[in-house]
Amino acid sequence: MTPVPFPTRRIGVLISGRGSNLQSMIDAVAERRLHATIAVVISNRADAAGLTRARAAGIDAFCLGPRGHADRDAYDAALVDQLRARRVELVCLAGFMRLVGPRLLEAFPNRILNIHPSLLPAFPGLDAQRQALEHGVRISGATVHLVTAELDNGPIVVQAAVPVHDDDTVDTLAARILIEEHRIYPEAIRDVLAGDWSLHGRRFVRAPLPL
Ligand code: GRF
Repeated sequence: MTPVPFPTRRIGVLISGRGSNLQSMIDAVAERRLHATIAVVISNRADAAGLTRARAAGIDAFCLGPRGHADRDAYDAALVDQLRARRVELVCLAGFMRLVGPRLLEAFPNRILNIHPSLLPAFPGLDAQRQALEHGVRISGATVHLVTAELDNGPIVVQAAVPVHDDDTVDTLAARILIEEHRIYPEAIRDVLAGDWSLHGRRFVRAPLPL
């Protein structure tokens, strides 16, 4: 008898560059810490190293550049088509350097995650590690959150803190935060896919564990 494959949840990952967070997802799936299938990886840049990582893992991966699309809405519509064609349930932004417009948000309501290298709501936007260092905070970290129309402002799913040392540079702080990013992004995906959560205002609340 042919074994029936156990159905897993299908995620799509959007990247623009290095893809180390993508790699953390690939590893978590391979090590069965995350019961999901990475159905597709899409980059808005052809030279994204993450595309090579995805292909090395046998994942369908390609560049969908903004050129040739009239505006953000048309580009987002093309992304939605690609994601839907692969029956993606959850979209994970992993270093995707584009704002997400209403077309994508409406296609995946509360089903888009992002990772940001600070303890939001501190230091949204670009260069979060530099912002934290220059502000002089003693603790920074990483945040995985649901994506909403406002940049880096959606409900928080998981956070992790790291200390900021006196001799830190942007690079050493970013490296310390990145270790936590790689740990918490697969955890957050697992939590969201588990489905036993709800939003209370801005709060992402997990259902209590059964006794
Ligand atoms: C990470 O620091 C992530 O938090 C931010 O962009 C960077 C992407 O790195 N959004 P990588 O491409 O996953 O290595």
